Amino acid sequence: MKIPPKKIPYGKQWIGNEEVRAVTSVLRSDFLTQGPKVREFETALARKVGAKYAIAMANGTAALHLAAIAIGLKPSDEVLTTPISFLATSNAVLYVGAKPVFVDIDPVTQCIDASQIEKKITARTKAIFFTDFAGHPAELKTIFAIARRHKLKIVEDAAHSFGAVYCHSKIGSCRYADMTTFSFHPVKHITTGEGGAITTNDQKLYTRLCALRAHGVTRDPGRLHDKKQGGWYYEMQELGFNYRLTDIQAALGIEQLKKFDAFVARRRKIAEKYKKEFRNLQNVLLPVEKMECKHIYHLFVIRLQGRLAERRKAIFEELQRRGIGVQVHYIPIPAQPYYRKLGYRAADHSNAQAYSRSAISLPIFPKMPDREVDFVIKTVKDVVRLYS
Ligand SMILES: Cc1ncc(COP(=O)(O)O)c(C=O)c1O
Repeated sequence: MKIPPKKIPYGKQWIGNEEVRAVTSVLRSDFLTQGPKVREFETALARKVGAKYAIAMANGTAALHLAAIAIGLKPSDEVLTTPISFLATSNAVLYVGAKPVFVDIDPVTQCIDASQIEKKITARTKAIFFTDFAGHPAELKTIFAIARRHKLKIVEDAAHSFGAVYCHSKIGSCRYADMTTFSFHPVKHITTGEGGAITTNDQKLYTRLCALRAHGVTRDPGRLHDKKQGGWYYEMQELGFNYRLTDIQAALGIEQLKKFDAFVARRRKIAEKYKKEFRNLQNVLLPVEKMECKHIYHLFVIRLQGRLAERRKAIFEELQRRGIGVQVHYIPIPAQPYYRKLGYRAADHSNAQAYSRSAISLPIFPKMPDREVDFVIKTVKDVVRLYS
């Protein structure tokens, strides 16, 4: 097989003519920033995941930040979170001055280990921020039961898991969370360029999030302190941000949502093929899909064991050299220099550390043609054989 002229990336968007037409038509309309398309996108998103409310925003990081504010986190508070996620999950806790407390991961799903959560709860613990890693839901029922027992808020980071299902509940329906956050970065399940959202079933959170997204300002007559003013009147009732999504982005998102089921089906098909082809590879562990879950394969992570694990760097480089844009998701957050300066240590989370040293993410995205899937399969098999 020939090495492809361009490296096959681990993830990539799929934009069609429908998206181009929709965006162009917004460009010619009256609204460029947040307007009717954002509302339409929010309604479609809420319907898709089965939540009462969806609030679109600038990106997934902004969504996590506003979720942290909306639940009222304060500087003395602690938030239980996962060491294996994108940095944004725990950074959102730092943004509001609260303290992330890392709970090690489940070595099977790489999501937060629900059985370890209760040990880390103190009088200061206010919330749990966790990620459905790679697109596989965390142990939602257990997390939910613990949170209710200890009066903790739950923020589920679903940047990877839009479309996933846990015990017949769609991720984002907030059956087991106070808020679920999404990212629409181009490598995610749908894209709006940059973009994000929060879903919730709580009307108070919804109202507050809408204001926080736009400088903390409200014009809602029912919420104004001064009700005697005229139609020009608005009030800033708390410190908010400009975290708006634009109508241009929302138009893109609306078209992407229409294709969402096909995108998901394609990801699952590629994952099935990888699993079938790699099932006999010695010292290579494959992603697991628990019975009660539907995995959505934002990432397809293989984990190298034994001799292969020792040679991960060489294997990674060889795959890159042969045209496969492999990545590592992720380096444990507490191992980052910034977090180490705050006193965190990666060694405190041995499962996360062991996982991170063994992981390689292979390309998986809906637009990936069969010939590229076949190329990845053949190359991975060749390289694994070479280093075994
Ligand atoms: C798990 C997770 N959370 C949060 C984010 C942040 O999303 P965004 O890039 O849209 O800010 C990402 C994005 O990569 C992510 O993977």
